[in-house]
Amino acid sequence: MNSLSGPLAERYGDQAPSASLPDPSAILSLLLAHRSVRSYLPDALPAGTLEALVAAAQSASTSSNLQAWSVVAVEDPERRARLAVLAGNQAHVRNAPLFLVWLADLARLEEITRSQGQTAEGLDYLELLVVGVVDAALAAQNAAVALESMGLATVYIGGIRNHPEAVAAELGLPPATFAVFGMCVGYEDPARPAQIKPRLPQAAVLHREQYSLAAQAPAILDYDRVMSQFYAGQGMKQPDWTRTVAQRVASASALSGRDRLAEALHNLGFKIR
Ligand SMILES: Cc1cc2nc3c(=O)[nH]c(=O)nc-3n(C[C@H](O)[C@H](O)[C@H](O)COP(=O)(O)O)c2cc1C
Repeated sequence: MNSLSGPLAERYGDQAPSASLPDPSAILSLLLAHRSVRSYLPDALPAGTLEALVAAAQSASTSSNLQAWSVVAVEDPERRARLAVLAGNQAHVRNAPLFLVWLADLARLEEITRSQGQTAEGLDYLELLVVGVVDAALAAQNAAVALESMGLATVYIGGIRNHPEAVAAELGLPPATFAVFGMCVGYEDPARPAQIKPRLPQAAVLHREQYSLAAQAPAILDYDRVMSQFYAGQGMKQPDWTRTVAQRVASASALSGRDRLAEALHNLGFKIR
């Protein structure tokens, strides 16, 4: 028994995972200390890690309790290497001992509905894809926080959307599932530590009563300065954040193949009405 036995029993009833899980505390400091990590040790993860992160993920809120997400845990080095290539040849996908692929999953809902003799027409609408994507993101972020609380590191991998159909084939995904993003999991290589990356001043993202775009300009200017200092401190010369943002969204060609995501989703069985 540990202090999480009670909450786990409430979450899962008599199906609670039996592995001993750590007891996270000081959540806010943990959140503020987040860093994406791209250099991993090859060390294996402690027993129970997967069950703990999934328990955290399943504890996130989920739209109408539909639980319209799933996760595929990939440990096979050869499969990780193939996924690394599909995700833009990112070395950390190959090197981290665990790669999680978070899915918007309407297949389970379709199966349940059809087994009751109904057509599952509601799943054809954009709304349900949004439900699945939001559910997957909330679940994944809960898992990321839980992993960081256990001394592990993560980085999300949006590159998994570069080739959605090939990823679906690699993972044996049924129609009406979509790999929203991946996530590397492992121990950070202490020889190559990641730094906490500054964010926009709150004046840019926090609006009181009504939204203002104009009021954000000084905060954005200030952020360019802070980020320049951040990268200079790391010995990196980077364009201003505002230039980087503009380059990233200026053209379809900057989307690394994801400009055809709508077509890929149709191929994966999402009608998106
Ligand atoms: C949905 C999503 C997709 C991402 N995709 C990638 C990726 O493919 N490769 C990568 O190295 N980092 C990826 N990142 C990490 C971001 O670059 C990172 O979160 C951002 O630069 C802020 O840095 P921080 O997480 O260290 O604070 C992704 C983050 C999110 C939320």
